[in-house]
Amino acid sequence: MKTKNNILVTSALPYANGPIHLGHLVEYIQTDIWVRFNKSIGNDVVYICADDAHGTPIMLKAKQQGISPEELISKTKKEHENDFREFFIQFDHYSSTNSKKNEELCKEIFLKLHESGHISQKVISQFYDEKEKIFLPDRYIKGTCPKCKSEDQYGDSCEQCGATYSPTDLINPISVLSNTKPMTKDTNHYFFNLKNFKDYLINWTKEHDLQPSIKNKLNEWLNDNLNDWDITRDAPYFGFKIPNEENKYFYVWVDAPIGYISAFEEYSKNNGNKFDGIWQNEDHGEIYHFIGKDIAYFHSLFWPSILNGAGYRTPNSVYCHGFLTVNGKKMSKSRGTFIKASDYLKHLDPEFLRYYFASRLNDSIEDIDLNFDDLTKKINSDLVGKLINLASRCSSFLEKNSDLMLSKKLENKEKFTEFLNDVGEIKKLYSQRKYSNAVNKIMSMTDKANQYINENKPWAMKDLSKVQEISTQGLNYFRSIIILLGPVMPDLLKKTENMLNENNLAWENCLSPLLDKKIEKFTPLKTRIQKEDIQRLNNELNEKNNEDKKKVKNMSNEIEYEDFSKIKLRVGEIISADNIDGADKLLKLTVNLGELGNKEIFAGIKKFYKADDLVGLKTLVVENLKPKKMKFGTSSGMVLAADSDGDIIVIEASSKIKNGSRVK
Ligand code: MSP
Ligand code: ZN
Repeated sequence: MKTKNNILVTSALPYANGPIHLGHLVEYIQTDIWVRFNKSIGNDVVYICADDAHGTPIMLKAKQQGISPEELISKTKKEHENDFREFFIQFDHYSSTNSKKNEELCKEIFLKLHESGHISQKVISQFYDEKEKIFLPDRYIKGTCPKCKSEDQYGDSCEQCGATYSPTDLINPISVLSNTKPMTKDTNHYFFNLKNFKDYLINWTKEHDLQPSIKNKLNEWLNDNLNDWDITRDAPYFGFKIPNEENKYFYVWVDAPIGYISAFEEYSKNNGNKFDGIWQNEDHGEIYHFIGKDIAYFHSLFWPSILNGAGYRTPNSVYCHGFLTVNGKKMSKSRGTFIKASDYLKHLDPEFLRYYFASRLNDSIEDIDLNFDDLTKKINSDLVGKLINLASRCSSFLEKNSDLMLSKKLENKEKFTEFLNDVGEIKKLYSQRKYSNAVNKIMSMTDKANQYINENKPWAMKDLSKVQEISTQGLNYFRSIIILLGPVMPDLLKKTENMLNENNLAWENCLSPLLDKKIEKFTPLKTRIQKEDIQRLNNELNEKNNEDKKKVKNMSNEIEYEDFSKIKLRVGEIISADNIDGADKLLKLTVNLGELGNKEIFAGIKKFYKADDLVGLKTLVVENLKPKKMKFGTSSGMVLAADSDGDIIVIEASSKIKNGSRVK
C-alpha cells in the first residue's frame, strides 16, 4: 500500500537582474509553507527553484555595470540564495537556467518538437536600433499610443488606455537604448505552433484541478485565436544558441520553464535518482508549479503544450497567487512601497512576514495587501500577546513549582482531546492553500488555551501538583499549536523544540502530549514590534527613494550650482609643450600661472594639437584640482578644453579688458 506521495514542487524562477523583494516573497513563502506542511504530514516532497538567468535586460544590465553577464548572474544568485535562507525558504535544490544540463535539455526538446512538426520558420520585420546594433524587445521601444495618443508608452501596451498592440503600431517610435528612431529590419525566426495543441489544451484544462479563475481565463484564451509563439531572439542576446544557427538564440521564456526539469535532474542525480522518471511518467509522482497570475499564460498554455509535444508528462496543477500591494498601493520605488527583502530584514523579523502573509493568503488569485499597522497588530496582539505569552506563563509556573518538570499526566485529558478537534480541518485547509483560514483556526485554539489557564487560575492554587498538571496541559496546548503553525514559522518551531528538548516534531506529534520530562527555561521566543522598527524601515525606504531620484538627476548630467562654484579658474600661459615617449594621447604642458608660479599638467589632446603649436597660448586652468599621479608624472591642474563637433579645442583666453577696452 502506498503510504506517502512523491511530490515535486516549484516556484517561479526569479530573474537574475534584480533583488528579491517582498512581492516575490508572497510566492516563495506561499510555496515553502505548502512544502513544509506536506513534509510534516509525511509526504515525500522535493522543492526546486533556480535563477532565471537569460534575456536582454540581464545582458544590458551587465554591460551597464561593465561586467560579463556570467559575473552578474553569479553575484545575483548568491544574493537571492541569501535572502531566501534568511526568510527560511528551504529549497531542496536551487540552480540556474544558465547550466550545461539546461542547455542540453533545451536543444533536445527543441529538436523533438521540430521533428514532430511543431516548429515553423517565418521572416518577420522587427524594430532595430542601428546605433546599438540590436533588435529591440517591445519594452525597449517607446512612442505614442496608436489608440488614445498618450505619449511615452511602451511598445507592447499603453498604461493610459490599456490597449495592446505591436511596436510597429506606435506613433513616433523611439529606441529607449539610444534615443534614436529605430528602423525596421527583416529577420528569420522560429515559431512554436501553439495551434497544434488546441484540442489537447481544451482537455488538459478540463481534466486538471485548476483554480476556477484560471480555468475561465484559459477558456477565454482557447476560444480566441492561438497565435504561433516566436521562440527566437537575434544576437546580441544572453542565452542558448538554437541548434544549426549562428546568430539565433532561444527566447528566455523557452529555457526558463525547461529549467524546472534540468534543476530537478541535477538534484535527482545527486540524491540517488530520487523520483526517477517523474517528468516522463505520471505514476512516479505529482508535479505542482506555484506562480504569480502574471505568468499564467506561459505556464498553462505554452508549457503543457511544449511538454506534451516533446513527449513529457504535464504538471498536475499550476497554483496561481495574486500580487502584493503595500499599504494599498502598487509596489513602486517612488512611492516608497518597493521593499527589498534585505531592507526588510534590517528592521523586522522574517517570520513576522511569513505569519502575516499566511494570515492573508488563500487559494484565490486576489491581490494581497501588506499594511504595516495591521502587521504590527497581528504580531503584537495575536502572536506575542496570546501565543508566546501562553508559553511564558505556563513555564514560569513550572519553573517556580516543579523545577521545570512536566507532570506525569495531563490535568484533563478529555479537554486536551477536545482542544484538538480542528486538527483534521486545519490539515485540509493547509493542503488546499487556504492558509488564512488555517491561521484563524489555530488562533482560536490559542484563545481556548489561554481561557483554560484563566479559568483554572494556577497562580491562586495551593496544590502544587495540580499547578504542575495545569501548566503542563497549558504548555502542551502551546506545543501542539506551534507544531500546527510550524509550516508558517519553522524557526519558532525549532526554538520551541530546543525549549522542550525535542527534535524533528512532525504534524502527528501534536496529537500526543509531552509528559514527565524536564524542559529548558523559557526565553522570549518572539518580541513585540516597536513603532520605531517600522519608522526606521520607512525612513530607509524614503532615503533610498531620494537617492534614486538623485541618481536619475545625475544621469541627465545636470550638476548643481554649488558643484560648479567649487572650481577655481585662472588664466595661464603655456610656456612649453612636449611629446612623451610611449604616450599616444598625452602632451606634457608647463603652464605659467603668474603669481602661482608654473604648473606641470598632462593633457589628453595630442590627437588634436601639435605640441609646438600650443606654446604661447593663453588658456584657462583649473587651479584647485587635486594633483594626480599618472604613469608619466604628476599632473597638477587641468587645462580647459571643450567638445566642438568631434574635435577637442583648448579654450583660449586671448583678450582682456584694460581701461574699458579689449586688448591682446
Ligand atoms: N523569470 C520569470 C519566471 C520564469 S518561471 C519559468 C519571472 N520572474 S520574476 O522575478 O519577475 O517573478 C518571479 C515570481 O514572483 C513570479 O511568479 C511573479 O508573479 C512573482 N512576483 C513578482 N512580483 C510580485 C508581486 N509584486 N506580488 C506577488 N508576486 C510577484 O516572472
Ligand atoms: Zn493608449
